[in-house]
Amino acid sequence: MPNDLLLSIRDLHTWFELRRWGFVRVGFVHAVDGVDFDLHRGEAVAIVGESGCGKSTLAKTILGLHLPRQGEIIFDGRRVRGREDLRWYRSRVGYVQQDPYGALPPFMRVQRILEEPLIINGIGPRDERVRRIRTALEDVKLTPVDDFLARFPHMLSGGQQQRLVIARAMILQPQLIVADEPVSMLDASVRVEILQLLRGLQERYGLSVIYITHDLSTVRYFCERVCVMYGGLIIERAPIADLLRTPRHPYTQALLAAIPDPDPENAHRMRDVPSGEPPSLLHPPAACRFHPRCPAFMPGICDVHVPKDFEPSPGQHVLCWLYDDTGLVAPRPAGRA
Ligand SMILES: Nc1ncnc2c1ncn2[C@@H]1O[C@H](COP(=O)(O)OP(=O)(O)O)[C@@H](O)[C@H]1O
Ligand code: SF4
Ligand SMILES: [Mg+2]
Repeated sequence: MPNDLLLSIRDLHTWFELRRWGFVRVGFVHAVDGVDFDLHRGEAVAIVGESGCGKSTLAKTILGLHLPRQGEIIFDGRRVRGREDLRWYRSRVGYVQQDPYGALPPFMRVQRILEEPLIINGIGPRDERVRRIRTALEDVKLTPVDDFLARFPHMLSGGQQQRLVIARAMILQPQLIVADEPVSMLDASVRVEILQLLRGLQERYGLSVIYITHDLSTVRYFCERVCVMYGGLIIERAPIADLLRTPRHPYTQALLAAIPDPDPENAHRMRDVPSGEPPSLLHPPAACRFHPRCPAFMPGICDVHVPKDFEPSPGQHVLCWLYDDTGLVAPRPAGRA
């Protein structure tokens, strides 16, 4: 279905220049360093990885808030390049930030917070704006609506603030929502509610969602596919069930093993966490970025040759030499002809 594709990003690189004393260039932080990614209409995809691997930078680049150094973003068939493209694109993409209080202007009332994007985008008359504001608040269950319109953000709980951020992200009726760790700063008691709310909105409006998290245990709430990010790259992508059943990349395997066991009987058991330090993005490790931490490291291969994209089972892609069934670089995996 050619029309089914909403967002396509190709070879995306976003680097940050690092300077000492403001003028001596130290180098570049390779926060996003060659990401390819497709998203279909109505699809929810999770991007998972530990802190510092480049998730927020990827989110902001997808949102048009960071300009990539290289690569392209194609949205709804249109290449997003110039200022006019960006304006068109930004009104079709909603952003749910990690810290709801920090994302909301403290001196604006709820009504004004939701009306501003409508005014900026020339949506009117006023009756139409009020209608949309009321619908958005009902959608995120900030009801009765009249009780919330005149409140300031500090008069809302953390969960209510995040509902308001979601309402603002929805107010322009976007096709895509990018949610960057939307529940990581909330109390555990409201996390599932907020994720279910996002899932409900996605289904009702046929939205596409990119859900960014460091916590693989939350993705099953609403994602069809998962991309695992490590050191500025997507190192594995697969349908959620396949990834949970048969994680292929040694890093994904370590991430899955680190999920706490919900069974209280097993709560005392130590879980493996990916040992070692996350890689420097200023001087990323050569070839496979996971090689200094990898239990399956093959000297002379993993530290010399950049892993290619292998597809060990349909739809499951992995950057790892363990799945090189050509045998040209790494030894042929056991059991394959
Ligand atoms: N504006 C910036 N300027 C310089 N470095 C940045 C900037 N934003 C992020 N970084 C660096 O890029 C890397 C990836 O950061 P980030 O995208 O926030 O990761 P994550 O969201 O996965 O924790 C980190 O090393 C971080 O310090
Ligand atoms: S390429 Fe080598 S070092 Fe990298 S994850 Fe695979 S086995 Fe480990
Ligand atoms: Mg982040």
